[in-house]
Amino acid sequence: MKTLFDTTHIGSMTLKNRLWRSATWMNMADEKGHLTDHLEQVYLDLARGGVGTIITGYAFVLEGEQPNPGMLGIYDDSFVPEYRAFTEKIKAEGANIIMQIVYGGSATDFRPENREIWGPSAVPHPLFKVVPTEMTKANIRTVIEAFAQGAKRAKAGGFDGVQIHGAHTYLFSQFLSPYYNRRQDEYGGSIENRGRIIYEALEAVRKEVGPDYPVFIKMHCCDDWEENGLSLEDSLVVAKELEKKGITGIEFSGGNLDVQNYPNAGPMRNGILKTSNQSYFAEKTARIAQHLNVPVISVGGNRTPEKLENILNTTPIGYFSMARPLLSEPDLVNRWEQGDQGKPRCVACNKCWGNDGNICILNRASR
Ligand SMILES: Cc1cc2nc3c(=O)[nH]c(=O)nc-3n(C[C@H](O)[C@H](O)[C@H](O)COP(=O)(O)O)c2cc1C
Repeated sequence: MKTLFDTTHIGSMTLKNRLWRSATWMNMADEKGHLTDHLEQVYLDLARGGVGTIITGYAFVLEGEQPNPGMLGIYDDSFVPEYRAFTEKIKAEGANIIMQIVYGGSATDFRPENREIWGPSAVPHPLFKVVPTEMTKANIRTVIEAFAQGAKRAKAGGFDGVQIHGAHTYLFSQFLSPYYNRRQDEYGGSIENRGRIIYEALEAVRKEVGPDYPVFIKMHCCDDWEENGLSLEDSLVVAKELEKKGITGIEFSGGNLDVQNYPNAGPMRNGILKTSNQSYFAEKTARIAQHLNVPVISVGGNRTPEKLENILNTTPIGYFSMARPLLSEPDLVNRWEQGDQGKPRCVACNKCWGNDGNICILNRASR
């Protein structure tokens, strides 16, 4: 019988439990993407709160290319010393810390008029309406190299691993989707072609960090967007290829942001108080995971320990990550481990966002 609190190993990492903090943009870094005291405190609280592995909010790999304000940066070497001091503090609390790295693209409403935004093809984002510039092959090389350098800096900064952001309509997930990707060259068309930029990014990252450094990816089990999205079958093709090319583990999210036609089909769903509505990507993730050998993390609506342990013991999913519940209760994992397995305080109201930081509305009220 496996439990959420088993100690396990993934490559060089020891994980004291199977619970992860999924990447969560906090809107607390400074203008250039550097750490602030407030942001550092958030991560310390998480590490002290019991979660075994923390993935940072997404960090931008090219200066100025950021889909949101207050994100962490990893675009030059000035970040390395500060991240080294930071990761030492987090690791001293017993948690692993992994940096998520991203190229944003058209999934943005942050000053889109002030910069050139790249995408696979010039089609509007259904939510943000931003139309990116179709990338040239030179642009593709630039992004791949930026990921490789970002990963190298994250390793030098003491992170236990990196996670490539391939989800939530940011650039790499757009390449996978037939809606966003209308290219006629070797980066578009078949799923082998749509996955190519990610395979090349992984190869470039591996060249910089070596074969053993943990390199994860977050991607979709499918887009739930029947006419336009990434299908489960195509997602499996990509996942298997990534496994062949040396990915360490895969976190599966999902959904689409076509909110007009598909309300509440995104990665952050509400209406999940009932246990049956929770862990809403787990069933599809398990269908993919049964064909994989690398560790699989399921994200999206994980709320009830009993349900998670059931999934753990009946599917190949080995880990569970959470975002919104840990914004509300950074010590939720300690609470669960100590035997209080009542519902998280988070009710998935999706009011976590704020100009002074992404904070649970309940905690905002008590500040
Ligand atoms: C405030 C906020 C910021 C987020 N930032 C990121 C991010 O930086 N990278 C990412 O991959 N997902 C991000 N997400 C999505 C979460 O990682 C997660 O996939 C989603 O919230 C579903 O999990 P949950 O039900 O546990 O909240 C964010 C979610 C929230 C609420």
